[in-house]
Amino acid sequence: MCGIVAYIGQKEAYPIIVKGLKRLEYRGYDSAGVALLHNGDLNLYKKQGKVANLEEFTEGKNILGNAGIGHTRWATHGRPSDENAHPHSSTNGDIALIHNGIIENYASIKSELKSKGYSFKSDTDTEVLTILIEDIINSEGVSPAEALKFALKQVIGAYAIVLLSKSNPDQLVAARKSSPLVIGIGKEGDFYCASDATPIIEYTKKVVYLEDEEIAILDRNAGLKLYSLDDVAKTPYIQKLALKLEAIEKGGYDHFMLKEIHEQPRSIKDCVRGRLNASEGWVSLGGIKDYEDKIIKAQRIILIACGTSWHAALVAEYLIEDLARINVEVEYASEFRYRNPIINENDIVIAISQSGETADTLAALELAKSKGATILGICNVVGSSISRITDAGSYTHAGPEIGVASTKAFTAQVTVLSLMALSLAKKKGTISDSKFRVMLTELEAIPQKVQQILDKNDEIKFISEQYKDASNALYLGRGNSFPVALEGALKLKEISYIHAEGYPAAEMKHGPIALITEEMPVFVIATQGPSYEKVVSNIQEVSARKGKIIAIVTEGDKVVRNIADHVIEIPEVNEHLVPLLATIPFQLLSYHIAVMRDCNVDQPRNLAKSVTVE
Ligand code: AGP
Ligand code: GLU
Repeated sequence: MCGIVAYIGQKEAYPIIVKGLKRLEYRGYDSAGVALLHNGDLNLYKKQGKVANLEEFTEGKNILGNAGIGHTRWATHGRPSDENAHPHSSTNGDIALIHNGIIENYASIKSELKSKGYSFKSDTDTEVLTILIEDIINSEGVSPAEALKFALKQVIGAYAIVLLSKSNPDQLVAARKSSPLVIGIGKEGDFYCASDATPIIEYTKKVVYLEDEEIAILDRNAGLKLYSLDDVAKTPYIQKLALKLEAIEKGGYDHFMLKEIHEQPRSIKDCVRGRLNASEGWVSLGGIKDYEDKIIKAQRIILIACGTSWHAALVAEYLIEDLARINVEVEYASEFRYRNPIINENDIVIAISQSGETADTLAALELAKSKGATILGICNVVGSSISRITDAGSYTHAGPEIGVASTKAFTAQVTVLSLMALSLAKKKGTISDSKFRVMLTELEAIPQKVQQILDKNDEIKFISEQYKDASNALYLGRGNSFPVALEGALKLKEISYIHAEGYPAAEMKHGPIALITEEMPVFVIATQGPSYEKVVSNIQEVSARKGKIIAIVTEGDKVVRNIADHVIEIPEVNEHLVPLLATIPFQLLSYHIAVMRDCNVDQPRNLAKSVTVE
């Protein structure tokens, strides 16, 4: 996602826009830019990096104009650079556009516009929309607002956009679908536009939240007009902002981590957008597709990562080996890089990293590259170091993850790895058509199942209350739930500072069972699957020693609830996809326990969001 801000009125727009962009930098910060109308000129200023870079760039320049648009980017198409920064302008320089979202069919539109003779200055999908609007103005002789309506009927994807044009200097035109856009109604007949209310709240509390496929014309003289894409006039529903500024940046949540936990239905949807179609029966991971033959022929896949990303890699090992029958090795990047590993030229080395900047993962990747292996990346930050040195890769599209404890990035990583495993299995013929279709349908249903678990927040918060004073905790899981046990333990220890260990459930008898006492909460994943009965036995062993048991079970489970102290039910799901659901209760448990212990949830002591040093 990204942050967009726009203003039209009597005041100088630039200071308002830049201040607003800084408030939205949590939404994306890889480049920033503004476009302003002044004395008939449309002037663009844009720079890679944070908003401060843009300010430095415009230092001393006389940036004037009382109508303008601004953008702080979270790249999805085209790496972070000056050219790919927004706003994007038309060939003739008459219009400028800022956009939050993804135009999925940009490639086909771009090639059509190229065949008409248009050229492009950037690699972004947004510039394609800008030139499409220009083409419609040229070919239909309509206004920019009319052209925008026609253009939006041709695009597939998500957008929150604001258009500025020299030919209509008294207007801003805004529209949205899936990406958020708020309009602020100023006191002097001026108007504000932004991705959320934080850039608006200090000027006005009167806001209109645009609905999907609505277009707003903000006219200095004619005021606010609202239309559907089909030109049906709509009455703006004006609301009064109640939230405080600080709260709004977090979308009304107390912490970024909680916001990101609750963003997961959307971030998983964004992750599969354009990559999965259950009804038509296809999976397509664009960035990796060209390497699938090579991966299938390879002796092995080596997954390298750190922390939570290493847990996602472990989930992938179970998935890829079981479904695609390809040998997978999972390595801690910090260990791999120093143990003089054997790396062959036909090895496929895949780095998994939210930030794409983790020093050990980057170094391990460079080692693999130096040995001639094929190196791929699964990152969340577009244009990050790892994504730049790899031969190819796939972005997780989870949006900026601000909380140090990784949540939505983990489920997005597991989602991409699930898509990869399914795609490889299909290509290799190791999965039946019927099972493939079932898995696609199940994967498509994950976001709403995640939502069902998030709706149990109060129940999970109550359980958290019982264990907030524990000194130690044990997390147990079998099969692909073992990495989820590790992840649950990491979440608890890194934000609540309670010592926690994750273990394969069967391993408990080989040592950890000595730890079991009435003070020891044991979190167990006991969902329906091949090892269910075995896990129930492990729970019995803990219960026999008076350990406190909190079990994650499949909805309707009648057995475990009679042994455990607490059960958290998750929806029925294919065993391969349990990690995507079982991790959610552990995220919420850790969050609530940390809050009850007055810990700094978003910035835990001693930790950093991206470990760019060894
Ligand atoms: C997880 O909650 C931590 N923030 C940490 O373990 C993190 O996963 C690790 O540092 C790897 O970061 P990366 O995914 O950006 O490479
Ligand atoms: N898809 C556009 C780009 O990559 C907008 C991304 C965003 O929402 O920031 O530039």
